[in-house]
Amino acid sequence: MSSSQYAEPFRIKAVEMLKKTTPEHRREALEKVAWNVFQLKAEDVYIDCLTDSGTSAMSNRQWAALMMGDESYAGCESFYRFEAAIKDLTGFPFVVPTHQGRAADNLLGRMFYKGHNYKFVVTNMAFDSTRGAAMNFDMWAEDLLDDPGYDSQSYHPFKGNMSPQKLEDFIKKHGREAIGMVIMTITCNTNGGQPVSMANIKECGEIAHKYGLPYFADAARCFENCYFIKEREEGYKDKDIRDIAREMFSYFDGATMSIKKDGLVNMGGYFCCRDEELYHRAANDNMAYEGFQTYGGLAGRDLEAIAIGMYEGSDYEYLKGRIGQVEYLGKRLDEFGVPFVRPTGGNGVYVDARLFYKDIPPEKFPGLCLAADAYLVSGIRIAELGASAFAVKQPDGTIKLPEIDYVRIAISRRVYTNSHMDIIAETLGELYKSGSPNFKGMDKKDWGRADSHFNSHYIPEFK
Ligand SMILES: Cc1ncc(COP(=O)(O)O)c(C=O)c1O
Repeated sequence: MSSSQYAEPFRIKAVEMLKKTTPEHRREALEKVAWNVFQLKAEDVYIDCLTDSGTSAMSNRQWAALMMGDESYAGCESFYRFEAAIKDLTGFPFVVPTHQGRAADNLLGRMFYKGHNYKFVVTNMAFDSTRGAAMNFDMWAEDLLDDPGYDSQSYHPFKGNMSPQKLEDFIKKHGREAIGMVIMTITCNTNGGQPVSMANIKECGEIAHKYGLPYFADAARCFENCYFIKEREEGYKDKDIRDIAREMFSYFDGATMSIKKDGLVNMGGYFCCRDEELYHRAANDNMAYEGFQTYGGLAGRDLEAIAIGMYEGSDYEYLKGRIGQVEYLGKRLDEFGVPFVRPTGGNGVYVDARLFYKDIPPEKFPGLCLAADAYLVSGIRIAELGASAFAVKQPDGTIKLPEIDYVRIAISRRVYTNSHMDIIAETLGELYKSGSPNFKGMDKKDWGRADSHFNSHYIPEFK
């Protein structure tokens, strides 16, 4: 394996200086925000791996295209370039722009859930905005991930797969009339950024359609998913990423996308579908929330950057470098024995918090302790996507912990170099070896909706 395997596939034209802070400064900053790293000011963070959403570096071509933004209210040229790119890469004939992914999730909810008595939307594993959109209509997002996806340590090439058996059993048990739709999240962010195979996408679609259920993709990281299909699934090695994408989308009735991920932009989303009548309803409905059908909450310049970013994000060499960097971080963490979801996924490395801090019980949030420690030790910001983010307070007041308890080291696209990956690996390696230098555990003060972890206050139990 040559070192060029992990070389960044770009050179850097503009730089943004990073700020280093002292341990005393970081402790004060974290205490001030009740130990919740989401609430930190970005200027107090050294390497920011909180999310890969909207944090990409745009290319020289995208920055140049901003000047071409047509800011006309209706019928702007930029919309037609945006629409053409999305139609080309997804094959959907109808596209409604939204300002980001969750606006498209909510549009989906209003289109499909409103006015019905559905109890569920079923998914491989729901992202919080999918769950939030369902909860707005008193529904629950049921995760039907296939079993290998729940085992962080075993190797499986497609740990984001939905279980076809669980899907069929669930539909039979609850009846079609209880279910709003089937959503496949590609890649599966909540489960380690793990991919879904083409065969699984096809099979689950056939089951959904057999029962007359709409089948949609949550396509935030669709091109990273295509890269894994090309690398790992038989029959796709010689296919172009964009052709893989077109085939993948062909199994769905529609898709929503947070373009802030694989579209390599800082803002944007879409809702796409095949049905013309549905499109007209969606465009009209979106008017009240996002705006006219040729801008949908975005400026003309955003639409221009997206039209280019969608092609750059589906370029094989770019994807190889991007996913290679995540793999590189995994390799470095491996040298320290750090337990993380294997194999590494698309958008980051997901550390298994329960295995990382074995002496902190799950109900004391080992993942929150790790996120706080990484910040206190090195100024690195990573996000707990586990017990605190996904636990649910039951009507009787008891807390139901989720099966998985991960801390996500999300890698922004085209932003950090492999030297930054080394710093992250060395910090976590040291914490893994010595245990938490600060905490015996944490308590969570606020329980609310699916997204309460953004604002929760935490109460640490210090060593
Ligand atoms: C899989 C998935 N779906 C939907 C969303 C929501 O997108 P946005 O943050 O643009 O609203 C996200 C955001 O992280 C996501 O990861």
